Amino acid sequence: MNKRILLGVCGGIAAYKAAELVRLLRKQGHEVRVVMTAAARQFVTPLTFQALSGHAVHSELLDAEQEQAMSHIHLARWADILLIAPATADMLAKMAHGLADDLLSTLYLAAECPVFVAPAMNQAMWGKAVTQENIARLQSHNVQCIGPAAGEQACGEQGLGRMVEPADICRQVLEHGQSGALSDVNIVISAGPTREPLDPVRYITNRSSGKMGYALASAALFAGANVTLVSGPVNLPTPAGAKLIPVETALQMYDAVITHCRTADIYIGAAAVADYRPQQLADSKIKKGGDIGNIALVKNPDIIAAVAGLQPKPLVVGFAAETDDLENYAKHKLQTKNLDLIAANWVGQTEGGFESDRNALQVFWPGGQQILPMTDKHTLAAQLLKLIAEKLHEKNPVKNS
Ligand code: CTP
Repeated sequence: MNKRILLGVCGGIAAYKAAELVRLLRKQGHEVRVVMTAAARQFVTPLTFQALSGHAVHSELLDAEQEQAMSHIHLARWADILLIAPATADMLAKMAHGLADDLLSTLYLAAECPVFVAPAMNQAMWGKAVTQENIARLQSHNVQCIGPAAGEQACGEQGLGRMVEPADICRQVLEHGQSGALSDVNIVISAGPTREPLDPVRYITNRSSGKMGYALASAALFAGANVTLVSGPVNLPTPAGAKLIPVETALQMYDAVITHCRTADIYIGAAAVADYRPQQLADSKIKKGGDIGNIALVKNPDIIAAVAGLQPKPLVVGFAAETDDLENYAKHKLQTKNLDLIAANWVGQTEGGFESDRNALQVFWPGGQQILPMTDKHTLAAQLLKLIAEKLHEKNPVKNS
């Protein structure tokens, strides 16, 4: 279906690539209107975008003529998608804090449609803690972030910060647009680590950050699903619209997941559940004088295997984080846990895995497999969710047609 795409162009050298973006979007039959910031007009003339989009470019918030032609509220309502490419650090900061001192930031505040940003900036600006906080905040408000990509920058430096190429932005935006495939689907996602207490102050846990599970939750919300997020302790903002069930131990996670999966269409087990818990939970702090020697452990229940045993059974998607023999272990888990899909990734490597913002996945299902190459966890989550939506559709063609 053809979309109405409002393209916001900010001031950066990548602004010239936004012209190609307009051309590609229009070539595929979509309608594009362009909003330029004052700085963007220093890089490319509005006439370029006017010629490519076939419409006058919008720039001013307080311009009587432009407001008469199409008010900023009307423009925000017109759009099916708001795409900001390139998005500068300044624009991301404004958006993250609700500032609305120019047309584009005001449009973002007024927009009720899906919003995408394709950041472009110097690698140090992208890596700065405040920019990362701003982007995390925007992602928790369901803004979809595309890139940035790594490579040589206009300033001559190397690193993450280049705008993703227009063809890839185009593909990702339109793929996302189609993933309304999950509207009204109930998804339960487990995320993060569990904590298995030894005494009131100590516990056994693992390195899971929860980033993959949270990225899946926000991609699922974007695709129109009802999302219940059963989360171990993590340091991440809850995606807007998700129903959060905070838990600590594997046993608490088991209870919450089983309860919510009774009415779920899909369960995604992204949590790194501790396989064992201490047999004894001391009532008071264990003192070193006591010389406890060994800690006796007992096995925790396998949550995902229990979900796969429910009747009716939701579509069950597991993860397998492996340090070796990934394919064999993943396939074995797929079979023994009776999963519909398993997403396997390497851990303990230089890039990707538990604490990283990036990851790559090798996805297996009975009779098939697909590789999702190294990218940021939000892009990866959208790609994995697309696969999951296809599997749900195959399993249950009526409900999701
Ligand atoms: N899982 C679970 N409950 C557990 C252990 C794991 O639901 N008690 C789920 C995880 O959420 C993940 C999948 O099972 O979706 C695979 O987890 P993983 O830790 O890789 O597998 P294990 O079965 O624990 O096997 P091992 O630790 O031997 O690799």
